[in-house]
Amino acid sequence: MTVSPQHAAIHRQLQAVGQGHLLAFAEQLSPGQQQAMLSQIASLDLDSLPALSEQYVLRKPEYRVPAALAPAIVHAPGGRIVGLPASSAQPATWDRAAAQRAGEAIIRAGKLAAFVVAGGQGSRLGFEGPKGCFLAGALSGKSLFQLFAENLLGAKDRFGVEVPWYIMTSPLNDAQTRQFFESQSFFGLSKSSVRFLQQGVSPSFDITTGKVLLASKGEVATNPDGHGGAVRALHTSGALQDMQARGIEHISYFQVDNPHARIVDPVFLGLHATPGAHSSGQMSSKVVPKVGPEEKVGVFVLADGRSGVLEYSDMPKALQEAREPDGALRFGAGNIAIHLLSRAFVQRLATDSSFALPWHRAEKKIPCIDPRTGEPISPSTNNGVKLEKFIFDALALCDKSLVLETDRVEEFAPIKNASGSDSPESCKQLQTQRAARWLAAQGVHVPTKPDGSPDCIIEVSPRTATSADELRSASVPRTIERGARVSL
Ligand code: UTP
Repeated sequence: MTVSPQHAAIHRQLQAVGQGHLLAFAEQLSPGQQQAMLSQIASLDLDSLPALSEQYVLRKPEYRVPAALAPAIVHAPGGRIVGLPASSAQPATWDRAAAQRAGEAIIRAGKLAAFVVAGGQGSRLGFEGPKGCFLAGALSGKSLFQLFAENLLGAKDRFGVEVPWYIMTSPLNDAQTRQFFESQSFFGLSKSSVRFLQQGVSPSFDITTGKVLLASKGEVATNPDGHGGAVRALHTSGALQDMQARGIEHISYFQVDNPHARIVDPVFLGLHATPGAHSSGQMSSKVVPKVGPEEKVGVFVLADGRSGVLEYSDMPKALQEAREPDGALRFGAGNIAIHLLSRAFVQRLATDSSFALPWHRAEKKIPCIDPRTGEPISPSTNNGVKLEKFIFDALALCDKSLVLETDRVEEFAPIKNASGSDSPESCKQLQTQRAARWLAAQGVHVPTKPDGSPDCIIEVSPRTATSADELRSASVPRTIERGARVSL
């Protein structure tokens, strides 16, 4: 077979990095398929493959718990700052009203952007299509994307500014996501305020040989490069430049599967953006107290003096179970993946090589083809390794990083699994529970079941309110009947 100069060059490059097998079936492809495959391979960072395979696939990087490990310093809801060393001269309280004023001024000045990471594969939920299209509203059946759009429309009503919304997709769901927004007329948002950007991919590896897997004879197996891929995607897509041109200084980061995320939160923004003893204004995070030692979430820590998230799987049991004298978990500040980042900090993460985020390894079942025979393989055990970057690794690169504790029901109703905890069902229950709580705070009678849970279904659109305070300006019923279905 005669091969094009491009084909020959890529083949040489592949052989040099030990991945010559990727073109083993090229001659069986049509010219168009061949070209597509060569383009895909050319888009990968081939020179990095030997080191990645060696460091993360053939060897498992060992996590060593830092010698100096302390709980994160947390701004608690009641105005206390918890976790300060006894010797600290810093104030042990914070001022909610001042933070609210500072945050509102930033929002009204148009300096905040919303950013959702929606490039994941959502494999646990098992929903065909982008997760943001999943119908999550407890009564309305509105999609996750619609609920976020209503959150931003509500912010426009309240603060008089359109908060621009950046949506990170992956090559696997980008076209479908854009079509969904078009088909829903952008949910009433102005089209110019919404911008899509695609994250990159990383090759998937064979767990035993360290070679890159083939998804088919004409396609390398890849996976989205993790939510930490947001840093690169925001830079290379031009989104950071676009933000700069619009005067954006802070980015409200949230995940596509949590409809309770309060995207525009003046208090959090005010705390984050006011430089001081606790915040550098670079990256801040919200946490909720862990429900117990076994809850599988990462926790915020200070590791050798630097902020970070210690993953559940890396945490020795003794540390998981350690308690403070008051009985609270010592390492109990659970990560809910809600952050504020300054645009300038993301720019630095993306362009300063000493700020590069590390890779994480995950063992997965990855359908592929046998590189010797070309026969399809549907693995029943983990046969592959995916490499991903995590956004929370940026915390360690901050000068200082603020952590704000919030209430689980108020801001965390994730849809991860098809059933059980963190499922569509639990999310719907949390929507009603939160709404019932907001109404009860106004003296509305909400009927309850013997176990204390609301005996009705209530859905509050995030356009109407994203907090109990915001609901005070809405018109609400004085009482709710048993079994009622109430949309506000
Ligand atoms: P998860 O860790 O829950 O992963 O992502 P996932 O891919 O959505 O779901 P599973 O693990 O396959 O079931 C948390 C958030 O990060 C985004 C997801 O879209 C979700 O909002 N994410 C994850 C990305 O944007 N890109 C990625 O590469 C991975």
